[in-house]
Amino acid sequence: MNSKRKKIIADFTQNPVTAQAYANIALIKYWGKRSVELNLPAVGSISLTLDALKTTTTLQFDESLESDTLHLDHRNVAGKPLERITQFLDTAVQTGDRPKAKIVSSNSFPTGAGLASSASGFAALAVAVNEAMNLHLTKEELSILARQGSGSAARSVYGGFAEMKCGTSIDDDQDDFAIQLEDESYWDLRLLIAVTSTDKKETGSTEGMVRTAKSSPFYTGWVESQQADLDEMRRAIKKKNFAKVGELTEHSCFKMHGLAMSGRPPLLYWNGATTEMIHTIWNLRTKGTAAYITMDAGPQVKVLCQPGNSELVKQAMLSVKGVKQIIEAKPGPGAAIVTDNQIKVKNS
Ligand code: PMV
Repeated sequence: MNSKRKKIIADFTQNPVTAQAYANIALIKYWGKRSVELNLPAVGSISLTLDALKTTTTLQFDESLESDTLHLDHRNVAGKPLERITQFLDTAVQTGDRPKAKIVSSNSFPTGAGLASSASGFAALAVAVNEAMNLHLTKEELSILARQGSGSAARSVYGGFAEMKCGTSIDDDQDDFAIQLEDESYWDLRLLIAVTSTDKKETGSTEGMVRTAKSSPFYTGWVESQQADLDEMRRAIKKKNFAKVGELTEHSCFKMHGLAMSGRPPLLYWNGATTEMIHTIWNLRTKGTAAYITMDAGPQVKVLCQPGNSELVKQAMLSVKGVKQIIEAKPGPGAAIVTDNQIKVKNS
């Protein structure tokens, strides 16, 4: 054991540590990995953190435990999700030879249905392990750590608009972290989320990305055209040009889904209500309401609009058959430790 590891383990607290983080919606999507092993993205991405999609995680290291335990949304969880967390904690502490942890986590939204629960989940866990193990990570290091759990988690370290940078090396991840573009108070926007299914998705994002990269004839075009989308989106956010942000958001979403559909076998994350919703929103736009669609690796439809239009857009979304729930989100804050109901923002 090297001296750094000894110090990390010696410094840990056995007290429970609670962190909160919020999921984010990618306006310019990430799809594809340049290394699956290190979880390195093939492209950069830009996101908005969402206040309505919150994960709260309590982490407690305990030397008397024989293995890590996970309690997620009031249920004990074993198997793959727990293995992923054990691996994440080993990576964070840089050794498997560490006290085991009890993790109790809950989401304010359906888990694993394309609402980015892994983004808020791993961002919260990164902040919690940083505190419990006294790692003293900077925001960028926290983002790198969160990314090792889930690519999109790197962006949830920050509130507001974040950009995930994409490095070039396939065996080094020091350039693969997110930065904040603007904080959550910068621009009052709304993202309305239509939940059309609460089932777990059949094809996870990593499997989907690997399949697409291997078999889609459009994959090279996707990677090559990403930089221009990122540059344009950054400029549109700076100018608060809503129509441009919306148009680019929709473009990136449909480019990603078109790419996934062009894999072999094809990958279609939508259901009937998803398609119906697309037409409903486009129809609304034809009649003059600025509202723009985005979707991730699941059948939920997310609609970006301005606060003054949110009620109208929500009513139109509720008219679509198959919609179970509409969640209304605003720009949300970054991941933080929760202490006695007070949120202490880490490393700010
Ligand atoms: O965080 P991951 O590895 O599950 O990938 C997320 C992929 C998308 O949600 C579809 C797009 C994105 O950039 O968040």
